[in-house]
Amino acid sequence: MDKERLNILGDKFCALFGGDKSDIRYFAAPGRVNLIGEHIDYCGGFVFPAALTLDNVIAVRKTNDRKLTMAATDLEGIYVADLDDIDKAQELKWGDYQAGVAKELMAKGVELSGCQMLMDGTIPYGSGLSSSASIELVTAVALSALAGDKTIDQPEKLIEMALVGQAAEHNFCNVNCGIMDQFASAMGKKDNAILLNCGTLEYKYVPLNLGDYVLVLANTCKKHSLGSSKYNERRGEVDKGLEILKAACPKEVENLCDYTEEDFNQYGNAITDPVIYNRVKHVILENERVKKAVAILEAGDLEAFGKILCEANDSIRYLYEVTGDELDAMWEEARKIPGCLGSRMTGAGFGGCVLNIVKKDVVDEFVTTVGKNYEARTGIKPEFYICQIGDGAREV
Ligand code: GLA
Repeated sequence: MDKERLNILGDKFCALFGGDKSDIRYFAAPGRVNLIGEHIDYCGGFVFPAALTLDNVIAVRKTNDRKLTMAATDLEGIYVADLDDIDKAQELKWGDYQAGVAKELMAKGVELSGCQMLMDGTIPYGSGLSSSASIELVTAVALSALAGDKTIDQPEKLIEMALVGQAAEHNFCNVNCGIMDQFASAMGKKDNAILLNCGTLEYKYVPLNLGDYVLVLANTCKKHSLGSSKYNERRGEVDKGLEILKAACPKEVENLCDYTEEDFNQYGNAITDPVIYNRVKHVILENERVKKAVAILEAGDLEAFGKILCEANDSIRYLYEVTGDELDAMWEEARKIPGCLGSRMTGAGFGGCVLNIVKKDVVDEFVTTVGKNYEARTGIKPEFYICQIGDGAREV
């Protein structure tokens, strides 16, 4: 962690809340990029995310009251959530992820005290890079550590914190998300992606050896908002699909991703609604694609990996229909650049980023040309980031 950044954060903290730096602790949690496996975490599927070095860092100091006193370096004002009346924090303009996490921790019996927290984030908001999961995770580890938990560096505890973050999102923020983002933010590992089975939470790290290539995120700068988007609607559609398949196929399953491509070929026709049919087809085939893609990557065949990312994009665009004009324009412009092996929208969709595998020596040209053409088509100035894969939630 950049010492200078912590120093500056500590100074700002003291300027805002008074006192000196001696009793401040610092925690960090990253955003994530998902390489492949989109919109299938809530169907018990395989996903393949990696934590970014873009993150949220908080400076925290324990207080003797029962209040979470919160601020952020890029926001005006101080936001206060009362631990004894935590639901009221839903009315705050900012701070509901933190309050939601506090509520879930208290429900688990963790004895929280009040604290002052100043947050400093580098994840572009609304970019589909999981700034919300990062806020949840940094809050979860910080509040747990302040409550005396000495195990926040243990995988079991971090996975528990990921589940706390997800529960906060469901119960406090009304987004019925899967576990991928919180898991990646909790368990990320430098230079590795995580193959995660969202049905069982079994996982393995896969080193990202990209040789002459880098991962470039092209941000459409079209803000997505999970709550107001079609996210919960898609979940409803695949739930319906699961019900129909359960009635048609004799196999005992818990999740949609327990069905194979063969099962789908044999029983998929029971789904007569073409929209639901397409949603289910995406989910089941995407799950198969993730396993294939990871095997290909492990074998070092980047070109084939790039191709499979493009196939996955077609599926999420035409069958799952969560891309939209901006993501489609960005993807199409990226595909025109020689030296870009593959591209795929990443995250929930309806805005956010396209992930690209780009040869190092064409990155400049990629950024200039795609940027210019995307802006000409949409009127929006995009942003580009070269992905650095970093560690998960921790004290710094
Ligand atoms: C959002 C959700 C995740 C996942 C993705 C789509 O990021 O938080 O749980 O469903 O969308 O893959």
